[in-house]
Amino acid sequence: GEIRDWAGPTKDVLSPVMVRDDNGRLTQARLGSHPFGSVESALVALDAAVTAYENGRGVWPTMRVSDRILAIQKFLARMSACRGDISRLIMWEIGKTLADSEKEFDRTIDYIRETIEALRNLDNANSHFEIVEGTVGLIRRTPLGVVLCMGPYNYPLNETFATLIPALIMGNSVVFKPPRTGVLLFEPLLNAFCEAFPPGVINFAYGDGAEIVPALLSTGKVNVLTLIGSSRVADHLKKVHPKTNRLRAVLGLDAKNAAIIMPDADIGLAARECLAGALSFNGQRCTALKMLLVHRNVEQAFTSEFLRLLGDLKIGMPWASGVSLTPLPSTGKAKQMTELLDDAVANGAGVLNAGGGAVEGTLFYPAVVYPVTSAMRLYREEQFGPLVPIMSFEDLDVALDYVATSEHGQQVSLFASDPDMIGRMADSLVNQVCRVNINCQCQRGPDVFPFTGRKDSAEGTLSVTDALRSFSIRSMVATKYTQPARE
Ligand code: G3H
Repeated sequence: GEIRDWAGPTKDVLSPVMVRDDNGRLTQARLGSHPFGSVESALVALDAAVTAYENGRGVWPTMRVSDRILAIQKFLARMSACRGDISRLIMWEIGKTLADSEKEFDRTIDYIRETIEALRNLDNANSHFEIVEGTVGLIRRTPLGVVLCMGPYNYPLNETFATLIPALIMGNSVVFKPPRTGVLLFEPLLNAFCEAFPPGVINFAYGDGAEIVPALLSTGKVNVLTLIGSSRVADHLKKVHPKTNRLRAVLGLDAKNAAIIMPDADIGLAARECLAGALSFNGQRCTALKMLLVHRNVEQAFTSEFLRLLGDLKIGMPWASGVSLTPLPSTGKAKQMTELLDDAVANGAGVLNAGGGAVEGTLFYPAVVYPVTSAMRLYREEQFGPLVPIMSFEDLDVALDYVATSEHGQQVSLFASDPDMIGRMADSLVNQVCRVNINCQCQRGPDVFPFTGRKDSAEGTLSVTDALRSFSIRSMVATKYTQPARE
């Protein structure tokens, strides 16, 4: 409900974009700074959320749904006016092209509108009567309490709002820890949050996530943990809560989505979709294709078409026109890519494209790595960057086993023509992942579709409507129904 002055330590925000310093050395551009709070200041934010929720008796959780929708609409109107500022901040902070940053902004606005629409249609605008065996119940969706919300750096606005907005609209209070990369972009919205929501309903906790997030959870006052990020971090955080089994978790986690390219696939289509699937936003998408399994009969044709298309991609600064590959968030991230690539090469793989794997500061030139084997880290580890591992197979079971034995279970892409074969494979694959994409790349949208995963890839489902369910519980008011006595 208020923006507090901050006299404590601050942290610089560095851009993926590199500039020359006074000594002519290339260094990541400094964009600004944000408060670098301590555990103590994060607990102030948590206490504000707990007080606002007031064990379900607060202004926000008891407000009529239609009034909560009005508050979100007020916020939406203010946010819509910030399109230019927020899109440019996304571009500078995470290195996404300006066009894709604008797309992220627009998709988020649509997501909020769709959430409002979905809530109006959910259980007859959130509550409905049922009469069963002489009992009448008014069943409604009610909030869960305090939600601790963390979004990822690759979709800092969109994926944060995919949990924050449903959590708020269902009447919860929120403590939001912004991503380490992608934090300044929320500043244009701070006043809008203050104006649209009662005090304490939405609170920002700035600081070192590794320190403050476990401290918040260990209080036992957080009812829902929602994180779009790493499986390892999620496992650790859930254990920190003193009553782990009482903590609801809504998680979007690691994935290692594979494409299977069958001998009868349309090779041009498969190569185009796999290129976009593997390298959009430099491969930094949980839904990215992170392993290409190509049938031996079409291996030659597929790889040469893939490499031809890759040769047309431009790498450069995110504002430059026609650029699709941009700098990684830090030189450390580029180093991680080099380590994964070196490991694959040391174990027998080659880089198929000339210049692949070259590094210039935060720019990492995409590398097509072949043949990948189970001896390499790239075989199972999620690269989350511009490395494209290719394996070939002759026996279809090898490809199917790769998916079936993975610790991840988000999506798969299947490229083939024979409808009978497609049908049989899809029926089997859909029991191992949560979305089978036929002749197209893996992706999350349209956002009204269920977005989730099996095994280590997710917990709970995030679609527009499922998210409303994830952040609420069905409760009811009941009484005995008696027929009016006849005269
Ligand atoms: O990083 C994970 C995102 O949910 C991917 O979304 O498929 O729309 O790029 P997307």
